[in-house]
Amino acid sequence: MNLAPVIPVLVIDDVEASVLLARALVAGGLPAIEVTLRTTSAIDCIAAISADVEGAVVGAGTVLNPAQMELAINAGSKFLVSPGATQELIDASRRTNVPLLPGVATASEAMGLAEEGITAVKFFPANQAGGAGYLKALSSPLPHITFCPTGGINAQNASDYLSLPNVVCVGGSWVAPKDLIEKGDWAGITQLAKAASQLER
Ligand code: 3PG
Repeated sequence: MNLAPVIPVLVIDDVEASVLLARALVAGGLPAIEVTLRTTSAIDCIAAISADVEGAVVGAGTVLNPAQMELAINAGSKFLVSPGATQELIDASRRTNVPLLPGVATASEAMGLAEEGITAVKFFPANQAGGAGYLKALSSPLPHITFCPTGGINAQNASDYLSLPNVVCVGGSWVAPKDLIEKGDWAGITQLAKAASQLER
């Protein structure tokens, strides 16, 4: 969460393209990269990025259960992200030393995880669940909890979140848009990453 202000969230099914994409993001100053387990080749993409992209810290997103957690770790994931938090996932993550960023959308969920000793969480789906104003309202009663909001964040609204005291970084897919990936416009993606990596937090 501290490596850069933005964690790119990737939905990608082409292993070769995922390596080029990760290189473009790292070149733009975004080393922490989340590959969501939403495609059949996501695990292969994680393995390829982990093996071939210098400077990348690749993690798995959309981790929904311990079986996916194990596959992701075996492929080389350095961190795991989930849209929510089940007791099963939390228990499984205690048996590994790979950090888990679980998701919450309410004060009660965040308090429940804090009771488990987890005080850095994902706020998901950020925009739809109340946006930066909602997260700001949580900072006063829950000052010990820090967030990585994700969901509907883009170049226009990222700063609204990053300026909050309880936000460490944001996640989003806007730095790796589908059309640029399909065109193989890696220089364009590096430009987007550069702009994102320079956002103040
Ligand atoms: C996620 O998986 O965290 C979100 O789907 C990313 O959201 P975005 O595509 O709206 O940036």
